Amino acid sequence: MSSFDPTRRKLLQAGAAAGGAAVAPAMLIDAEAAAAAPAARPPAALGTANVTLRVNGTDHQVMLDPRTTLLDAVRERLHLTGAKKGCDQGQCGACTMIVDGRRIASCLTLAVMQEGHDITTIEGLGTPKNLHPMQAAFVKHDGFQCGFCTPGQIMSAVGLITEGHAGDDPERVREQMSGNICRCGAYQGITEAVLEAQKIM
Ligand code: FES
Ligand code: FES
Repeated sequence: MSSFDPTRRKLLQAGAAAGGAAVAPAMLIDAEAAAAAPAARPPAALGTANVTLRVNGTDHQVMLDPRTTLLDAVRERLHLTGAKKGCDQGQCGACTMIVDGRRIASCLTLAVMQEGHDITTIEGLGTPKNLHPMQAAFVKHDGFQCGFCTPGQIMSAVGLITEGHAGDDPERVREQMSGNICRCGAYQGITEAVLEAQKIM
């Protein structure tokens, strides 16, 4: 019959070779497995990568240029714009995210390299009505002025705790936060906020 495809032809040939009886159950098993399998990823277009990013506990599947930084992917593809692009070269800390419990400059890593990792952005910490303790401490201690650096500062402050660097020495806090630049000079309030929040986290 002309409508037979090669796969079906092979199955019938195998069935004939096996006496016919074993093929039907095998076909049923294959059909059930196919139905239960998760949907396959669509093929990536030429020059793009098909990446699943786990951000704030949710998986996001995106097609992107493999050269896209994590910062650009999160801001421009996932529309989570809390992390800021300050220098775009790893010097200001405005783009700080937490990946698997450690701080990273998201402008310095490619999104494709972070597949399979747990990425947390400022949007994953708290909400306006239910602030994370670190966010509440920044508000209480005036740890910001213009606010541009603040998401990165807060992510770095949370990260220093998850990395095990918490302590009650202000100098240690300043050293741990030294990768985050504040052009408004809100450092005094930032240090006070970190010292207070880490007591209750
Ligand atoms: Fe990434 Fe400045 S934008 S460190
Ligand atoms: Fe303005 Fe830090 S609050 S740069």
